[in-house]
Amino acid sequence: MKILFKNIKGLLQTLDNSIEYIEGKQMKKLSKLNNAFLIIQDDQIIDYGIMNDCPSIDVDKVIDVKERFIMPAWCDSHTHLVFSEPREKEFVDRILGLNYHQIAKKGGGILNSARKLQQETFENLYLKSALRLEEVMKLGTGAIEIKSGYGLELPAEIKMLEVIKKLSNNYDALIQSTFLPAHALPEEYINKKDLFISEIIDQWIPEVSERKLAKFIDVFCEKDYFDVDETRLIINAGKKHGLIPKVHVNQFNSIGGVPLCTELESLTIDHLEILNDQDINAIKKSNTMPVALPNCSFFLNIPYTPARKIMDNNIPLAIASDYNPGSSPSGNMNFVVSLACTKMGMSPEEAINAATINGAYAMNLSKEVGSITIGKKANLIVTTKISSYSMIPYSFGSNLIEEVYINGKSLLDK
Ligand code: NIG
Ligand code: FE
Repeated sequence: MKILFKNIKGLLQTLDNSIEYIEGKQMKKLSKLNNAFLIIQDDQIIDYGIMNDCPSIDVDKVIDVKERFIMPAWCDSHTHLVFSEPREKEFVDRILGLNYHQIAKKGGGILNSARKLQQETFENLYLKSALRLEEVMKLGTGAIEIKSGYGLELPAEIKMLEVIKKLSNNYDALIQSTFLPAHALPEEYINKKDLFISEIIDQWIPEVSERKLAKFIDVFCEKDYFDVDETRLIINAGKKHGLIPKVHVNQFNSIGGVPLCTELESLTIDHLEILNDQDINAIKKSNTMPVALPNCSFFLNIPYTPARKIMDNNIPLAIASDYNPGSSPSGNMNFVVSLACTKMGMSPEEAINAATINGAYAMNLSKEVGSITIGKKANLIVTTKISSYSMIPYSFGSNLIEEVYINGKSLLDK
């Protein structure tokens, strides 16, 4: 199936295939062609350019895009969208004055999600997660990372990873799977943390890696969760088994997770709401991509990742949704882009770069998605009729997406 999109008002993020991410200072620029055409064949982008150069070739379908923009689908590099139940009661508790830590200490938080997930059947967990995935695909997400981490015991972790695998087999969105064994300490292991960590290292990681259920390894490196030494042990064990590190660090405290993860050549470090100058210097000297999660700051009322400081130091930045039941019950990347602009001082160009090509890099997918590039997947957002692409972050809460193509297929055709 060959489709020609013609008269595109603006074709955004047109990049050469050598570009894997965009560095901090360059993020101010968003490459774009006005009055453009785009040709896709089956699941791939095969040509694009300005209308004057539009070839006259045989195609199966011509779409006159008129006043609409086309851009690559969002690349959401950090989610926990496989979970059992929402946690709206904790949300109300927070409104009434408790904080995230107090809720966790009362048996809420991650432990609460784990209890529910352990009891959930595979089939129900799959169906609930599939609905969330379908929702975010309609909101323009074409590639997504999904973590385990609500199992907190090996069989439940495997159940989560098998759900991710089934989603990946059944949906066109590109899905990358992350094993997050150390998300919180289960109650049975209080005072036996060393035992929990050695089980992760000696049993869980080898089994998950052997069954090829994950590409990445993650740890919640944070005060009261897993410290730097514990994180190092788990990440190194993951690396030994071929898993690439992508780590939760500096959500509430800077405890040394950033220099540790840059030293361990983590692909990404995510959260970074609290970031000091030593952390910035460590990132600057590394190839690690920082990932900001503005939904989490918004929802928990905690500081936003200092995006300006990161980008002004010429460090690349990705943004992601962190979709999860505790700190970000939304996987809407349009809102993430909007918050990046209003709350983190990113320009629309910077935010779109962060949510497309840099997000793709943050999942090891920049050869496949994240830009309008010949040979990449035809994962596209067609906007409604809008005056400029700044309307996307400006119109927070409105849906400016008219049609989404994933793997060259329109979601409207289903
Ligand atoms: O990325 N910080 C750790 N993990 C999740 C939240 C987990 C939860 O509250 O369920 C996050 O924000
Ligand atoms: Fe997270």
